[in-house]
Order: sequence, then structure tokens, then C-alpha cells
Amino acid sequence: MCGIVGYIGKRNSVDVIFDGLRKLEYRGYDSSGIAVIVDKELQVRKKVGRIYNLRSDILKDPITSNIGLGHTRWATHGKPSEKNAHPHMDSTKSIVIVHNGIVENYAKLRTELLECNQEFESETDTEVIVHLIKKNYSNSLFRAVQETLSEIKGSYALGIMCKYEPDKIVCARRDAPLVIGIGQGENFIASDVTALLHYTRNVVFLEDGDIAEIMADKVIIRDIRSNIIKNREIKSILWNDAQSEKNGYKHFMLKEILEQPRTIEETFRGRIYPNEGRVYIKEFGLKDEDIKNISNIYVVACGTSYHAGLVSKFLFENFAEIPTEVDIASEFRYRNSVLSKKNLVIVISQSGETADTLAALKLAKSKDCWTLAICNVVGSSISREAENVIYTYCGPEIGVASTKAFTSQLTVLYMLAFDLANKRGKLGKEKLKEYLNELWEIPLKISGFLKNIKLLQDIAEVFISKRNFLYLGRHVNYPIALEGALKLKEISYIHAEGYAAGEMKHGPIALIDESMPIVAIVVKSGVYEKIISNIEEAKSRGGTIIALASEYDEEIVAKSDYIIYVPKVNEFISPLVTVIPLQLLAYYIAVFLGRDVDQPRNLAKSVTVE
Ligand code: G6P
Repeated sequence: MCGIVGYIGKRNSVDVIFDGLRKLEYRGYDSSGIAVIVDKELQVRKKVGRIYNLRSDILKDPITSNIGLGHTRWATHGKPSEKNAHPHMDSTKSIVIVHNGIVENYAKLRTELLECNQEFESETDTEVIVHLIKKNYSNSLFRAVQETLSEIKGSYALGIMCKYEPDKIVCARRDAPLVIGIGQGENFIASDVTALLHYTRNVVFLEDGDIAEIMADKVIIRDIRSNIIKNREIKSILWNDAQSEKNGYKHFMLKEILEQPRTIEETFRGRIYPNEGRVYIKEFGLKDEDIKNISNIYVVACGTSYHAGLVSKFLFENFAEIPTEVDIASEFRYRNSVLSKKNLVIVISQSGETADTLAALKLAKSKDCWTLAICNVVGSSISREAENVIYTYCGPEIGVASTKAFTSQLTVLYMLAFDLANKRGKLGKEKLKEYLNELWEIPLKISGFLKNIKLLQDIAEVFISKRNFLYLGRHVNYPIALEGALKLKEISYIHAEGYAAGEMKHGPIALIDESMPIVAIVVKSGVYEKIISNIEEAKSRGGTIIALASEYDEEIVAKSDYIIYVPKVNEFISPLVTVIPLQLLAYYIAVFLGRDVDQPRNLAKSVTVE
């Protein structure tokens, strides 16, 4: 939540910052602001709404400077307004800050400052930080920041400038991401690397507790004990700038849906060898002996990543025969699970920054469990905290509604389940070859399906006036029903419920009448007949059935009103194909309704606060 960019160097910082903020807008987009130093004075501009509002404002009255900070906000404390937008200045207009995170003890700090007659401009938690820095300032911004941070509880990524030290940006992080981009005679800071790729791919990830001084020609990082870090690794990022652009597509979401044949392949490339019946995930650090000793698996995640986790329960239990529990991270961290050394805790996160998932991971580590992260962003907090990380390699995902990250997460979970099953003697080589071959062919099958995209557009158009949808699935496709419903609600604002089809009689069937569309995932599987009965029950109560069926299934014709045929694949692997039409259905409904597909209201891609 919230995106930060900072620049110091020879260019006009305003251009660099806007370029970066545009790439970070997915992190929050209710208001934005920029601060620069011009002739030793701070200048701040802010606007409510999207970044182009601020951009057009600045174009009317341009500012130029070689040093600056920018921020795009997702409101936590204080509603979206110009006053609450960042950057925030102290009352003497000498110091300015941008902040991502939450100051947990801000109420106490604010009261103390008010008692000293400090005035406040905004309702934000952030403003206390800038007043404290000013209070602690004598002649070193670095020291004032250091002192202030010792008084603050909570999470932060901070960028700070002071008009008396116009040659530096001070930045700091604790439990919120911040990366330094290293250039030639110029340096950058940002909440994530996508904001910097146009300028540099060499980055340094700050660690919790670090405070850094960023000058045009050098960077000084100090750790939590104030020691200067001389050899912090400079990482070279493989992503390129083009991957974080729309490249001619109307929306990132559509681009990312259509990328899936390639991204799934990139996730399994070099990791599966179907002809040899071999899975080789070198990052999965557990020894064969440890694998045999795993007593339970806990899978913990949020949102769409949680739905990938729900699919994995079927895989780990069916193939590897390991009892598996799947939890929403915000529940897991507070529910006192009985964790022990022989548990493998898998956290799944596209961004690697979701606050609850990170906290769940830390909890699992504190209980001595084996921890494994499935993550997309190299250098993210979760990827650095977990003992082992398997990257999904699907490239930057910008659309707020997750699509390609989901299928890449599933791909990793399939490989992992097959590998565990094989190493625990539950899946022989021949069967393993069969499953790996199925996985291998998925990208081709999805590509074939995507040639009929027009069908989804047509079906979407029929249903745009509906206010409620029901999604039904069973077994591995029950989580896909949840995911289909989530996609629809988050980008179209239509109420949708995902349900286990067999549970329909225990409540949701009461909702069904002529106005209720029911999306039923009814691909060929061991529960095919069961879900057919569930469809009959819904249809006989007037519901309109949109069936997602396996190609060549003729039985379904008489039982449904609309049919979307998907390629026939093994039932356990079918979620990789059934989710694609559901992503497209949600996408086209949202487009027909004129919604802001890539940046739906109230949401942010990266939920870095609890
Ligand atoms: C937010 C995003 C979702 C995402 C979820 C978990 O809610 O809008 O798309 O699934 O966070 O994010 P993560 O990065 O941990 O997978």
C-alpha cells in the first residue's frame, strides 16, 4: 500500500518521479504528491485522485529540481484529501517526508506534540514523524531521523529531505519495502523495482532497521546498530521495463491473462523433465530425509494466493499423503496453531510484501518450522525472510486483480506436490511422468483456448445488468469457484459468491431465482455426476446456468444455458485451465460496465499494512 519514489542526480527529478509513480500506482491511488527542493526551499504539490491529476496540475505550472520525492497513497489514517496526501512538511517547511506503513503509537505521539503546541495539518499518522524529526534536528538530518525512529512503533518505509541539506535524501525501512536504485552520478529510491527499471537494474534492498543517506554520487547505509554497511550486495534485476508497460493492451489485466501460456511455461522451465520423470526445484532446500519426516503442511496466504493454497491441499493430501491445512494469513497469525519442528509452512505471496503473510511466516520461523515461500518478487520481504524461496518467474504483475501470478503459483504447487509425493514413495516414476507430461502441455492447451476469447466477450455482455452471481465448484475446482467470484467482485463491483456445489442445499439455494446467473465448473472428474445433480437443482429453481465444461461433453448441453468448453486435462490439473475463462468473464463484464479494471476502487495490489 502506498508507493514511494525518490531521485537525486542530474535529471529533472519531477520526470523521474512521475515515471516511477505511474508504475507504482497499483500500490494505492487515492491521492498523490511530490516534493522538490528549489533554491534551497521545499516545494510540495498534491492532488486527490489519480496521478494524472497531479501531472496535469504540474504541467500547467512546471517545477524543476535535481532532487525530489513522490508518493501515491492508499488511505489508512485520514480520508483521501489533499491535506492527508503525502508528502508532509513540518510547520517551518524545512523538512518533508513520504511514508508507507503505519505508526502504531501515533495517537500518543500526537497528543504529546499537541501539548507542546505543535499544530497539525492532516489527520494522518505520518505527520507526527515529520514534526518529531524537526524537533530532533540540529544539524544532521540523518541523526534527527535516527533519533525519531527510536520513538516510533509500527512499520515504515520513509523518504525524507531537508532544505538545509539539499544534496541528500535520507530513507529508512522497517516492515515495509524500500529499494535503492544505483545509477551513474544519480541514485533512486522506490517501494519496488518496477519504478526504477527504466533507469537502472542495479538495486540494493534495504533491510529492516536500515537508515540510508542517498547522494548523487554515493549511498551510505547504516544498519540497526548504526554500523556502516560496506558490502551490501548490489543485485541485478532480470525484469525489464517493457514488462511493466501495457504494450498496446487496453489493460494490464488483459495483457497478464493472455500472457499465461508463457508465464506458466517460464515457471516450470528447467524444473520439470517429463521424459525422465524428474522434478528438480533447486531452491527447495529440504533434504530427502527431511521430506520424509514432514508431518503436516500449513499453507498460509491472502486473497488470490490463498485460493492457490486451497488447491494445494488436494495435491499434498492426494499425491504426497501429507495432512495439509490452509489458512488465511490474518487468521493464522492470531489463532495459535499447534506448530512444531516437523511442520512445513508454505507461504504464498505474489508481492512478497503482504503484511499478514509476512507476520505468519515470522511466527512459523519462531516455532522452528521449515519455511518455504512461493513468491514472485525477488528481494521482497517474504522472499528474504523465508528459509527457502521458490520464485514463480511470471514477471511483474501490475493489474490489481491477480491472474498470471495465480497460475504460476499453482504451477509451483503442482511441481512441489509431485516432487514430495515421489520422494516419499507415494508416486512412482511412470505416474510422475504422466502428470509432468500433463503439466507440460498446459501452456499449449491454454493458447488453444484463448483463440476463442470472443465467446467470453459475448457471454459477458449478456450478464452485465445482473447484480448477483453464484459460482459453484467441487473438489479442486471449489477454490476456483471462489477465485472466479473474487475476480468478478473486485473489478466489476458485482456481488458474487463462490460455493462448494455440494453445500448449496445448506443455504445459497434460497438465493436462486430467474435473476441469478450460476457459473458452474463441471469439467470431467470424479465428482462430475455430483455437480451435474447440483446444476439440475439450481436450474429447476429458475437459475441461469453458465457451464464450464470439458470439450466434447455433450451431456452438459441439455443442462445449461451457456457453455464454455475448456480443454480436457487431468482433473487435478484442471484448475490451471478452468480459471482462465473466469478471469476473462470478470474482465469483460467489468470493461462493459466501464469499471477501472486495473485499479478498482478501494483496493491496492500490495497490502503492506495489517
Ligand atoms: C491484494 C491483491 C490481491 C492479492 C492479495 C495477496 O488483495 O489485490 O490480488 O491476491 O493482496 O497478495 P500477495 O502479494 O500476498 O499475493
